[in-house]
Amino acid sequence: MQTYPPEPFRIKMTEPIRLISPKEREAALKGAGYNLFAVKAEDIFIDLLTDSGTGAMSQDQWAAVMRGDESYAGARSFHRLKAAVEDIFGFKYFVPAHQGRAAENILSACLVKPGNYVPSNMHFDTTDANIRARGGRPTNLVIDEAFDPANPHPFKGNMDIAKLEAFIEKTGADKIPFGMVTVTNNAGGGQPVSMENIKAIADVYHSYKIPFFIDAARYAENCFFIKERESGYESKSVKEIAHEMFSLADGMTMSAKKDAIVNIGGLLCMNDESLFQNVKNELILREGFPTYGGLAGRDLDAMAVGLYEGLDEAYLSYRLAQTAYLASRLNDAGIPTIQPAGGHAVYLDAHAVLPHIPQSEFPGQALAVELYREGAIRGVEIGSVMFAYPDPDSGKMIYPKLELLRLAIPRRTYTQTHMDYVADTLAKIKSRASSIRGFKFTYAPELLRHFTARFEPL
Ligand SMILES: Cc1ncc(COP(=O)(O)O)c(C=O)c1O
Repeated sequence: MQTYPPEPFRIKMTEPIRLISPKEREAALKGAGYNLFAVKAEDIFIDLLTDSGTGAMSQDQWAAVMRGDESYAGARSFHRLKAAVEDIFGFKYFVPAHQGRAAENILSACLVKPGNYVPSNMHFDTTDANIRARGGRPTNLVIDEAFDPANPHPFKGNMDIAKLEAFIEKTGADKIPFGMVTVTNNAGGGQPVSMENIKAIADVYHSYKIPFFIDAARYAENCFFIKERESGYESKSVKEIAHEMFSLADGMTMSAKKDAIVNIGGLLCMNDESLFQNVKNELILREGFPTYGGLAGRDLDAMAVGLYEGLDEAYLSYRLAQTAYLASRLNDAGIPTIQPAGGHAVYLDAHAVLPHIPQSEFPGQALAVELYREGAIRGVEIGSVMFAYPDPDSGKMIYPKLELLRLAIPRRTYTQTHMDYVADTLAKIKSRASSIRGFKFTYAPELLRHFTARFEPL
């Protein structure tokens, strides 16, 4: 039986959670229009909705919060963050932002024009929406193996280099204001991208003079996978691997709510000075002065400390093994998950668990609702609710290749017993899967609809 290393921390403060009754859970579901984003947190027992901003900060981060300098301009907190960002990422310029999507918004506002394309392995939903909101077309060019949940490829987040080259030739490099890669690939299972692939991506973009930006939300987890799986990196530190990775790019966006283990924060880094000038102007308009970017000084300090803690190899080893443990317990119960386990989350193949529910009736959503109903556990659908959209040319609905339920694991927050409870609950659901029904929308906005949509059971 798979096990994982003991948590490299002990618990100094607790937060109570409670399991409400099945009747109360049913009422909570109905009241929320069967959208788990609308269920109150106090009605949730184990919250695996996201690993974003939900981790436990350390004693050193809380101590840093007390040192926060709330000066409007030039705060000490900013300079402490700047030192960490320069040390770890090495880009010439950066601004803080209140979270990842704010960085994406600023970058898209500065660079994306209507009719532009922005390729990536796979864009996450907010990146996708920010590019679309500026009239651009986000394009996903991940390797085909990413769409085969059972394929154990060690770097399933890799981009298909031949597809990337063909895509640039077809659209023309002048239509591509920047290219991206997401590490790890959240929308495709939290799967890592190899250094070899990142080098090849950088070479292609640069040969067409296209600036290369990394979506670095989970860069530390990606670098630890490289250390574990890519030959030549076994004896390098995660920080050295990160240096090499970022030296290949022209900039990055980052939601610091993941691998910087803070509750709020983001970064936008770049090497181009004229872009930096435009970024600062946009930032002042939308987020705040460039030395605080929509955050309090204490948030900047917590991020400066968390960036280093996120690189700690004892922590990363425990973290990735905890995720693999949950996946293996589910697999033992006959529930297929994307193989191999991702970094921050386990992705259940909802289509395989509920093969009788078509994509138009949202199998991932049906499984998410059932998990709450059975055990007050909250996960999130990553399938047709989140990603199906009408083709801008034909108007025909385009469905994603995978229908997933993501169980994201907050950092340093839940124990092995919590993971066992999740696995046991899903095993119960599996045994009565054929009686579970799909859903239809009663309300859905045009962009980022999963956040506020409402549903009715079919
Ligand atoms: C890969 C990736 N990029 C960007 C974002 C957006 O970050 P935020 O939620 O901080 O706006 C997320 C959030 O989950 C993400 O996973």
